[in-house]
Amino acid sequence: MANETNNFAEIISHCKEYGYIFQSSELYDGLAAVYDYGQMGAQLKKNLRDAWWKSMTQLNENSIVGIDAAIFMHPTVWKASGHVDSFSDPMIDNKDSNKRYRVDHLIEGFAEELLAISKEQLAIGNVQLAEEKEKLANDVLAKMDLLIAATDYAGLKMLIEENKIKCGISKTCNWTEIREFNLMFNTKIGALAEEADTIYLRPETAQGIFVNFLNVQKSGRMKIPFGIAQTGKAFRNEIVARQFIFRMREFEQMEMQFFIRPGTQKEWYNYWKDERKKWHESIGIPAEKLRFHDHVKLAHYADAALDIEFEFPFGWKELEGIHSRTDFDLTQHATFSKKKIQYFDNDLNEEGKPYGNYTPYVLETSVGLDRLFLTVLSLAYQNENWKKEDGTDDSRVVLKIPAKLAPTKLAILPLLKKDGLPEIAKELLESCKQSFHCFYEEKDAIGKRYRRMDAIGTPFCVTIDHQTKEDNTVTIRYRDDMRQERIALNDVKSLVDSLVN
Ligand code: GAP
Repeated sequence: MANETNNFAEIISHCKEYGYIFQSSELYDGLAAVYDYGQMGAQLKKNLRDAWWKSMTQLNENSIVGIDAAIFMHPTVWKASGHVDSFSDPMIDNKDSNKRYRVDHLIEGFAEELLAISKEQLAIGNVQLAEEKEKLANDVLAKMDLLIAATDYAGLKMLIEENKIKCGISKTCNWTEIREFNLMFNTKIGALAEEADTIYLRPETAQGIFVNFLNVQKSGRMKIPFGIAQTGKAFRNEIVARQFIFRMREFEQMEMQFFIRPGTQKEWYNYWKDERKKWHESIGIPAEKLRFHDHVKLAHYADAALDIEFEFPFGWKELEGIHSRTDFDLTQHATFSKKKIQYFDNDLNEEGKPYGNYTPYVLETSVGLDRLFLTVLSLAYQNENWKKEDGTDDSRVVLKIPAKLAPTKLAILPLLKKDGLPEIAKELLESCKQSFHCFYEEKDAIGKRYRRMDAIGTPFCVTIDHQTKEDNTVTIRYRDDMRQERIALNDVKSLVDSLVN
């Protein structure tokens, strides 16, 4: 292709135009940072969820089982987990615009502006100024990391003031002190509000796994090391909700807690770090678009943590977290529930080690399904244009979603709506639809239909024409390189099946 672009604003409007993602409650002007998945998006999301679930609970070399815990949980769960006291972000308000910012986002935004200026200056040959701006951006980010790690809010405020970081709306530096805001949504349970308890919408799915540790271990006769996997909605009252489905207030997580012997956490941390990166590559994310980022400030439950970052159209950002959660959560739940949560390790006794009963340590892998969706879409979206053989221009917008993940696998297209072609096409549809998702379309010129299938990401199109009636062959067209070939009608199902499964 002569030219390819991949623009974030284009991706967002493409998602709406082709039924991938809509703004929630758009009819009422929308709800910030909440999105609905449309007919194509819901299927892609399901395919991603299924791929993760299968890799965890069916294909993994370790013993991992899946559960589906409720979103509502006893309020003490969140006291025990530390979320009531510690699940907060440092925020700062601009007194003139009343706009609230997450402190790290405000400073990162400033650094991004400096880097953009640096790039512009480099482009026009002002090397010295470009280098100065780049150095300043890196210094500010490095200082911010240290101050955040030390929970030094006075230092962070000073960093904002020294660099004259302005509010994007009022353009002033008139800031409040930095304060902590809890990110959990709460609601009431029970018919009578005054009798009801406050409960929280879960901010992570992990706690549903911890409180079921003994249930699963005992009922499944699980032996350590083993994992419990879960997918489901999580809710966070994100103050700064930006970048489309990257940071939402209602989102979906795919989490796995791996229960291990104390003292083996470093080994398992390295294992899962590599395993999860390999999994992302296995679903088609190029290795050079992924990197590890070690956490500077650890969450209240972790003794080591890193992000697997992806290079989104707006920069390198967290896609998945790997956390060594120690025995923090199980110990906290044991303390708050006053129940014993321990594991009796027969193998340890057999190995002649001094103890058999212990609180397992936990290695967590946690990926946002919506972020994974955005990752796949931003890699897939291509705006291609090229010169045809006769010298004229041509173009298309195509979603090159890997065939295994694509929402619709095969488009079945009778060339004309007559001469018995739709009948043959419908017979093919009947024979394929049990095995994979098909799309049937008989309207419009064939070229137009191909372009529409490109835009929704259908990897294969099959056209039934008059020759089909003579020799039982059809044209199969491949989305990625637009190649076409003639194959036997009877081979369509097995060919597509082998390419999508
Ligand atoms: N149980 C650990 C945990 O929740 P986290 O790093 O806060 O850790 C894990 O979240 C993953 O959930 C992130 O890597 C990200 O993919 C996703 N995630 C977190 N907050 C999100 C949000 N507001 N919108 C979309 N995805 C989010």
